[in-house]
Amino acid sequence: MAFKALYAILALAVSFGAVNGAVVKRVTCPDGNTVNDAACCPLFAIRDDIQTNLFDGGECGEEVHESLRLTFHDAIGIGANGGGGADGSIIIFDTIETAFHANNGIDEIVEKQKPFIARNNITAGDFIQFAGAIGVSNCPGAPQLNFHLGRPSATAAAPDLTVPEPFDTIDSILARFQDAFSTVGGFTPAEVVALLVSHTIAASDHIDPTIQGVPFDSTPEVFDSQLFLEVQLRGTLFPGTGGNQGEVESPLRGEMRLQSDSNLARDSRTACEWQSFVNNQPKIQSAFKAAMRKMAVLGHDINSMADCSDLIPTPKPLTKTTITFPAGLSNADIEQACATTPFPTLASDPGPATSVAPVPGS
Ligand code: HEM
Ligand SMILES: *[C@@H]1O[C@H](CO)[C@@H](O)[C@H](O)[C@H]1NC(C)=O
Repeated sequence: MAFKALYAILALAVSFGAVNGAVVKRVTCPDGNTVNDAACCPLFAIRDDIQTNLFDGGECGEEVHESLRLTFHDAIGIGANGGGGADGSIIIFDTIETAFHANNGIDEIVEKQKPFIARNNITAGDFIQFAGAIGVSNCPGAPQLNFHLGRPSATAAAPDLTVPEPFDTIDSILARFQDAFSTVGGFTPAEVVALLVSHTIAASDHIDPTIQGVPFDSTPEVFDSQLFLEVQLRGTLFPGTGGNQGEVESPLRGEMRLQSDSNLARDSRTACEWQSFVNNQPKIQSAFKAAMRKMAVLGHDINSMADCSDLIPTPKPLTKTTITFPAGLSNADIEQACATTPFPTLASDPGPATSVAPVPGS
């Protein structure tokens, strides 16, 4: 009650400022912070809780990687009629959804996030996307993602088989994304590639259950375009269809490649788009930001949500601004797939071939 009354008074004190010529409304919160919308005020304390207690003071590590994966697995749980989406169902109905094959391992971050939702006044759907956007901001080179607030709690679990698997065909992956985004005009193959920029800060714990934290690129702690180069190196499909189904062996020791990433980099519908991300930091940032903005509100009308994007910290830039081939590899190792544009010529790291270290804490 007292809280509500305070907001009412503050609403009278709304100030106007001009940024880049556009007039933007600013609201002052009870704690002195200024925001775009009064509904965003309680998020400052939640952000502090997340950074301190979920991300070890602001790291780009295992929990950030898992939290980003969770934004996707919650959102893509949507039917063609628009039911479900980014609604927190993966946490609210976790006993059902974490049992789905494609959600293998998701239970770990679900268990870690649950107490944060319990002790803060925020829905599971909002929390998942908020934590994901904050987590990404801890990774040097990342864009500042958007965050919109206002996802009601899920009332039903997502059906099984909405989350793509690495051994799915490109036809079925592109169709699933098209279907998931059908109520908002669909999702192009280029947008699918843009979302996979996420795999620059990612590793696998479960494809090969004998090894943990196996990164998808040589730099899982930074948001760079190294993934797009390394997935284009010649590799071999893991033999057999057993435990390692969906894995392609990378020529880089210690690194794992998803069969789906490998195929997207080589399919005629997506290969040139994939290659266009190589050494193109502005593009990986802008394309990922735009695709995430769309994914994070799946199942909701963005116009009826509060834009709290100014709560997301500005990430640090990369210190290494041009990507390079890992030692021992060069342009000669590229499996060219884009028919119209040659692969960019890049330098190789000096010295003998090294292996990629696992992500700590996995
Ligand atoms: C074709 C679509 C996709 C497929 C088939 C796919 C598949 C996978 C698989 C199999 C893993 C490894 C899980 C494990 O073994 O522990 C993984 C990890 C991950 N995925 Fe995806 N993914 C896709 C799209 C996305 C999207 C759209 C996002 C986010 C926007 C995302 C974010 C991540 C992250 C951050 C990880 C690393 C998790 C960690 O390091 O703990 N993925 N993905
Ligand atoms: C919890 O959040 C909702 C929606 O953001 C708000 O209407 C409500 O007043 C909040 N409750 C408390 C106790 O702060």
